[in-house]
Amino acid sequence: MRVVRGYDAGIEAALTDKVTAERDEELRVFLSEARLVKDDFEIGELQKAVDSTVRGFEDVVKVLDKAEATSERYIEGTFFLRARVEGNDVGYGSICAAGPHACTLHWVRNDGPVRSGDLLLLDAGVETHTYYTADVTRTLPISGTYSELQKKIYDAVYDAQEAGIAAVRPGAKYRDFHDAAQRVLAERLVEWGLVEGPVERVLELGLQRRWTLHGTGHMLGMDVHDCAAARTETYVDGTLEPGMVLTVEPGLYFQADDLTVPEEYRGIGVRIEDDILVTADGNRNLSDGLPRRSDDVEAWMAGLKG
Ligand code: GLY
Ligand code: MN
Ligand code: MN
Repeated sequence: MRVVRGYDAGIEAALTDKVTAERDEELRVFLSEARLVKDDFEIGELQKAVDSTVRGFEDVVKVLDKAEATSERYIEGTFFLRARVEGNDVGYGSICAAGPHACTLHWVRNDGPVRSGDLLLLDAGVETHTYYTADVTRTLPISGTYSELQKKIYDAVYDAQEAGIAAVRPGAKYRDFHDAAQRVLAERLVEWGLVEGPVERVLELGLQRRWTLHGTGHMLGMDVHDCAAARTETYVDGTLEPGMVLTVEPGLYFQADDLTVPEEYRGIGVRIEDDILVTADGNRNLSDGLPRRSDDVEAWMAGLKG
């Protein structure tokens, strides 16, 4: 007898003397690994979640002036409305991080000011009625136009994400997309004089991590961090297969009090996150309904704000 703990106290109590912790753990790992490859139904549900999420991001852009007049909460509430009307809920607490809040990784208080001239890092996902969730991030210029420095940082993250997405294909190691994205970020940080090269040394010592803060992605499905109980050899040390869905989400974050970077960088945080399906011959970006290139983001915002 085996039981997945933490869901039904009655079942757990009834089975106490018939199950062992070891067998329960075996079941937890098995179920997690069974979720690594999604079937067509699951991929369809994830696409629905992403499509609703795209509409939620559009809703947010249309009300940025109202958010400027109130707070980040207006953004959270706007996205939540879309999630509740079209889906079951949000898949996780929406991160609506304006200005320096973007540098706090899971900023979910969402009670700060929204100021023209700053960036808005919006990380949010609609969850469908079948509990599949999207996990998408865009970093938008609140005014509609990136400043020169914001664009420079944004474009570096974009290039890193492009390199990461290009490394997602069947047969690739799971770690490849992370390594590809980190290399681009390290190259830019050296180029900008923020860390001393050569790039190989930076990567070897992980010096770029001061500003990249988190891994480049994770499996996505019913949980936002899906398959978390899978063994290292089947997940992070594993190989990508058609049907896997993962996020590619590099970022650069310059804390407001980081005295190691020039003042103008401080308080800027950028992440771009998309949901990528591994296909038979490469990958498909399920969230390409939202623009990613900086000039496309600006044009998209201008169209929505009309
Ligand atoms: N939204 C949480 C994450 O990106 O992993
Ligand atoms: Mn994510
Ligand atoms: Mn996210």
